[in-house]
Amino acid sequence: MKGLILSGGAGTRLRPITHTAAKQLVPVANKPVLFYALDAMRAAGIVEVGIVVGDTRAEIEAAVGDGSRFGLVVTYLPQEAPLGLAHAVLISEAYLGDDPFVMYLGDNLLKEGITPFVEAFDADRPDALILLQKVADPKSYGIAELDGDGRVARLVEKPAEPRSDLALVGVYLFTPAVFESVKAIVPSARGELEITDAIQHMVDRGLNVEPHVVTGWWKDTGKLEDMLEANRLVLSTLEGDVRGELLETTLEGAVAVGPGSRLERCTVRGPAVIGAGCRLSDSFVGPYTSISDGVVVDHAELEHSIVLENSRISSLGARMTDSLIGRECVIARSQARPVAYRFLVGDRSRIGIL
Ligand code: DAU
Repeated sequence: MKGLILSGGAGTRLRPITHTAAKQLVPVANKPVLFYALDAMRAAGIVEVGIVVGDTRAEIEAAVGDGSRFGLVVTYLPQEAPLGLAHAVLISEAYLGDDPFVMYLGDNLLKEGITPFVEAFDADRPDALILLQKVADPKSYGIAELDGDGRVARLVEKPAEPRSDLALVGVYLFTPAVFESVKAIVPSARGELEITDAIQHMVDRGLNVEPHVVTGWWKDTGKLEDMLEANRLVLSTLEGDVRGELLETTLEGAVAVGPGSRLERCTVRGPAVIGAGCRLSDSFVGPYTSISDGVVVDHAELEHSIVLENSRISSLGARMTDSLIGRECVIARSQARPVAYRFLVGDRSRIGIL
């Protein structure tokens, strides 16, 4: 079995972060979302993995390389534009050949990984296996309707009036029978070749599409709120591991501190992870916070937030919460006159002030 990870696309809902970075590389608990997919592939015994890439190819390639770090052999499959998930399958046909494969959306995160589903697929040998989970907002997902016998009856992509609350999780297992269906369908109203339409086509051809309900947590990290929730879910299983230097600092609960980091006169209440080479002083870091490498925090309080590499957070007048701060950002109190807010803010940023 081969793996196919989709890491093209534009990441519009995580702008401005994704103006400058691939959404699949935004870290959850200081590890890029995409790396969880790569680890899940390896854990399921898959070695050959194709990664579908678009405009952010160089960045994805720089992060993943040839895959050997993950125990994988990675091949990059360029997609000329994000023309849909089924289009990504279409352009990967030569790479996938006659092998069955597991397709994994590079911005999805599953607690239980994919091993149980790969095993079920190997045991039952359906033509396709799809994963489903109940969601509160079915309009945001591909939705499956099951018939009275629990078989897949209908699949609709982001329905305006959903007739079920069972969402398609971004992991699918296919035999090469899927290629006939991705070639048969036409672009949807939003101009994409939808994987939901291709699977519907398989159902209509009388093929066996097996549904599995996912019981552990699953997150599509495409939006800020989901990103923060994924961060919370992953950090809740964190184990403490201090490699940096602590001076007059109190750690409570599970806290990880990377090498070369120095914390002075701080309180860190876990679960929280602080990367390598950070400088924290006179600050409070609260639960569910991930601080990437090279970040500076002084005279500040933050919690339930993700801060990316080399940013500085300094002398805030109030606690910062529920935030995603990009790379090399500066959020600091200034002594300059006139006393005023001063912003240099990218497109589609959001700032909440007191
Ligand atoms: O997360 C689950 C949902 O994922 C499913 O319920 C939906 O049925 C499915 O269509 C998908 O919806 P999204 O709107 O979240 O898909 P998104 O455009 O975010 O793309 C998912 C991943 O695939 C993302 O890592 C980008 C990549 N991608 C996307 C497209 C459209 C590609 O590599 N190529 C593409 O052409």
